[in-house]
Amino acid sequence: MTVAHRADTKTLRRPLTEEELAFVRERRVGRLATADETGTPAVVPICYAVIERDGEPVVVSALDEKPKRVTDAELARVRHIRARPEVALVVDDYGEDWERLAFVHLRGLARVVDPAEVGHEEGVEALRAKYPQYARMAIETRPMIAIASLTGTSWRGAAQAEGPLPRPGTVDLAALVRGRRSVRAFQDRPIPRALVEQAIAAAGWAPSPHGRQPWRFAVVEAPERRAALADAMAATWRAQLALDGQDAVVVQLRLDKSRERLHTAPVLIVPCLYLADLDPYPDPDRRTAEATMAVQSLGAAVQNLLLTVHAAGLDAGWMCAPLFCPDVVRDALALDAALVPHALIAVGYAAKDPVRRDRLPLDDLIVSWR
Ligand SMILES: Cc1cc2nc3c(=O)[nH]c(=O)nc-3n(C[C@H](O)[C@H](O)[C@H](O)COP(=O)(O)O)c2cc1C
Repeated sequence: MTVAHRADTKTLRRPLTEEELAFVRERRVGRLATADETGTPAVVPICYAVIERDGEPVVVSALDEKPKRVTDAELARVRHIRARPEVALVVDDYGEDWERLAFVHLRGLARVVDPAEVGHEEGVEALRAKYPQYARMAIETRPMIAIASLTGTSWRGAAQAEGPLPRPGTVDLAALVRGRRSVRAFQDRPIPRALVEQAIAAAGWAPSPHGRQPWRFAVVEAPERRAALADAMAATWRAQLALDGQDAVVVQLRLDKSRERLHTAPVLIVPCLYLADLDPYPDPDRRTAEATMAVQSLGAAVQNLLLTVHAAGLDAGWMCAPLFCPDVVRDALALDAALVPHALIAVGYAAKDPVRRDRLPLDDLIVSWR
């Protein structure tokens, strides 16, 4: 026991590898252990970011406005750090497949950094870049914790023994991808605004041509706005279905169903194509390819959004209607002329378990493998 403990302490004294730092950087929550002057320990979950100072990594964590029972100065972690700066942080992946577990355990020297101090501003920027929730919290006016002189170690389950530390979320990625389904009936129940922001932020991390991010998202939440959008699109759709010579009763039924969806889903997200930042080309072929790339990447962004919504325990349904009447949608939502509404994603709590569609077998998907 003693020997094992000593060996562990030794490994914890080595600098973190680049791979371990990447693992820490990409996770969203860690458990910070501090101790008071008598050695009594305390552990709290923290949101954090990793910045660089003088070429060394530093973990920063805001004393933010999440509800707390005491003032910043009275927080156990602040009192402890002022009494003794040695801290430990564990960042881990958990999933039911224990071969895929992993964690990084780091130690460092912590300091409480006041807003006027060097590095505070950089810390605020890094935290805001990582957590959209911080955009609306005045973390720039509050002290933050900075942990430097980082050393540590890591552990991974058998499935990763030979390979790299896992990327975040890969533990349950297959289940997440397969679990997402198109939901077309929603409960009339509000969803947290933070979730909508998180889903749109995830959309923004999709790959895009030249990294130009050719997308913007309109969020339609107010019931009267949703109704106005539904009515505006219904008029166009009615005219288009009549052109197809569809039976008036069927047309009405389809319109009613679509309207119902737009009325009950608490939030509608309208992904719009934004082409203004793309490369201009003199020839039509490249112009078309450039625009196609933008549409492809908008699809990737929407999938990020759908998976994020699904991972949060909610559901969504993709509707193509705006693609058939972009001008109508733009007008109804008073959107900028440079935006082309491409779809409508209804988000909310599923009213019932939807039908799950089968997929092609793998053998049909791969057409050539030489
Ligand atoms: C570009 C695009 C447009 C879609 N438009 C609609 C739509 O207007 N209405 C609808 O009910 N579903 C729409 N869907 C959802 C598909 O019908 C659905 O993804 C497909 O049936 C597979 O089901 P699943 O998503 O539950 O796996 C659309 C999907 C995509 C990718």
